[in-house]
Amino acid sequence: MDDWVKAGKIAAEVLDYGKKLIKIDESILKITEKIESRIKSLGGEPAFPINISTNYIAAHYTASKEDKNRFKEGDLVKLDVGVHVNGAIGDNAVTIDLGKNKLLVDASKSALNEAVKIVKEGLEVREIGKVIQTKIQEHGFSPVINLSGHRMDIFNVHAGLTIPNYDNGDKTRLEKDMIIAIEPFATNGEGKVIEGKGSDIFKLLKKKPVRNEHARKILKIIEKYQGLPFAKRWIDSSMKDLAFNILEREKIIHQYPQLIESSRGLVSQAEHTVMVGKGILTKKE
Ligand code: CO
Repeated sequence: MDDWVKAGKIAAEVLDYGKKLIKIDESILKITEKIESRIKSLGGEPAFPINISTNYIAAHYTASKEDKNRFKEGDLVKLDVGVHVNGAIGDNAVTIDLGKNKLLVDASKSALNEAVKIVKEGLEVREIGKVIQTKIQEHGFSPVINLSGHRMDIFNVHAGLTIPNYDNGDKTRLEKDMIIAIEPFATNGEGKVIEGKGSDIFKLLKKKPVRNEHARKILKIIEKYQGLPFAKRWIDSSMKDLAFNILEREKIIHQYPQLIESSRGLVSQAEHTVMVGKGILTKKE
């Protein structure tokens, strides 16, 4: 089976599995680890650490090894799952409402549904943004304008092209067989994200020689992610704090910041991976 199709199916399967685990009082770390191990047992690898971002944190929250947080009543929880099979990626997300925010969840979900329907070869990407913006505004909310969908390629989650969540005027046209992730974010806030704390999610920037032997050892481990984002939590070494500090200082790795809604508004998200000319790949069997 084609790796893109396979990655999409596993991502969808795991998203469905994960959303059922997210309940009040459950540990975020425990659930994150369960979801990641499910990816592997289905024959995939995480394309990035499982993101479970709550309330005004829009994206880039992954539990650290020390994370003590549990889901609380009222939380609006976004689960974003990326799976790769030989580098081919399936990326999808869903929002779980542990409070009374059904309309906000519907806003991003129906925006995604409408957007997916219009995808075809030759379409200007601004048209996707326009549909998303309109649908979210119809619900009484705002799209988050500086978060967007993205083109994907082998071992590359963000392969250049941006799929906007509003009409940004970009007339770039979709091409046949392009793989894109469409991910509307809706908020009752201002509609913009800013950078927050560190996320525990890292990316290899550039391999360079490094003197410190711990840093060298950890760099060797990091290389196996082949440029995809990874979690510090994944690395099992008592010297990892030191090694990560050195690698960050040497600009060999980069830590992604959490992305938080600028006015502390609640944020919902929905996402599918779509192949132009073929349709949604993140569908269960
Ligand atoms: Co994505």
